[in-house]
Amino acid sequence: MLTVAITGSEGMLGTTLTSTLKDVEVIPLTRETCDITDPTLVDQVIRNTRPDVLIHCAAMTAVDLCESEQFSAWKINAFGTTNVARACNTYGTKLISISTDYVFDGTLDRPYHEYDEPAGALNIYGKSKWAAEQAVRAHCPNHLIARVSWLYGEQGPSFVHTMLRLADGTRDCLKVVNDQVGNPTSTDSVASALNVLIHRPELVGTIHLTCEGEATWYDFAKAIFRIKGVEQKVLPCSSEEYKTPAKRPKNSRLEKLVLKECGLFEMPKWEDALYKFLKKI
Ligand SMILES: NC(=O)c1ccc[n+]([C@@H]2O[C@H](COP(=O)([O-])OP(=O)(O)OC[C@H]3O[C@@H](n4cnc5c(N)ncnc54)[C@H](OP(=O)(O)O)[C@@H]3O)[C@@H](O)[C@H]2O)c1
Repeated sequence: MLTVAITGSEGMLGTTLTSTLKDVEVIPLTRETCDITDPTLVDQVIRNTRPDVLIHCAAMTAVDLCESEQFSAWKINAFGTTNVARACNTYGTKLISISTDYVFDGTLDRPYHEYDEPAGALNIYGKSKWAAEQAVRAHCPNHLIARVSWLYGEQGPSFVHTMLRLADGTRDCLKVVNDQVGNPTSTDSVASALNVLIHRPELVGTIHLTCEGEATWYDFAKAIFRIKGVEQKVLPCSSEEYKTPAKRPKNSRLEKLVLKECGLFEMPKWEDALYKFLKKI
């Protein structure tokens, strides 16, 4: 049976993966059992467990916090991923490293595909995740870099959780950004895709795994309330109006060129995935 280690196994995506990967032996790795910033420990864990595949979900994901705690962002996202990539390469483990739409600056007038060169991320999170990607490419040739975006899953925190929390009846209206467009994606959709990809050792390189279709955060919020049957007025606003410490790309859309070219499978439409998720929670 295939053995699959998961770093960040107690995070939002890691939790979904740990509970949904089928017909494999899962080795969950937490910050306690495998702090990725400790190269000796990472090497030791991979040497002792020898997984066939490692899905690397561990990261510092709080985008705004990465601006104020830059050293931690570089240490966890870039240096930590380097440690994981080196150990996977040493012990012959296929590395599937999870990355992000935020490696792009969002200035392109179409969705980004896997062969588009990022021109430079807008924030420290994106820059450190791009450095992580480069570390994977340099240190572990047997890899898949799987970019996901606008993620939500049962554990949260996520935009879906925030919207449902804010719509508690105490606010007349919510202002939500309407000039950033992307692909809302459920952790369930990513887990289903990875369930297939872990059994395809010949696939290496970069792959986009986001739900089909596009939305702004405003569209996303309206869909959440519509599906949940929550009465909440929502007004569109601009990124200028809703200032955050980290700048976000205006265009976060990811095209699934590799999935299509390889004829593998289609990702679900974002509204369908959201419906399934909201009916479950
Ligand atoms: N969430 C999104 O919208 C989104 C979008 C695009 C891409 N991604 C990528 O998707 C992946 C999974 O994201 P997620 O939303 O599941 O993140 P998450 O919920 O924040 O989970 C990240 C996990 O990594 C762990 N971690 C942090 N530092 C660590 C360290 N030094 N050693 C070991 N583990 C450590 C965290 O543990 P602690 O709880 O102890 O900190 C947490 O369990 C990440 O690579 C992220 O960059 C996420």
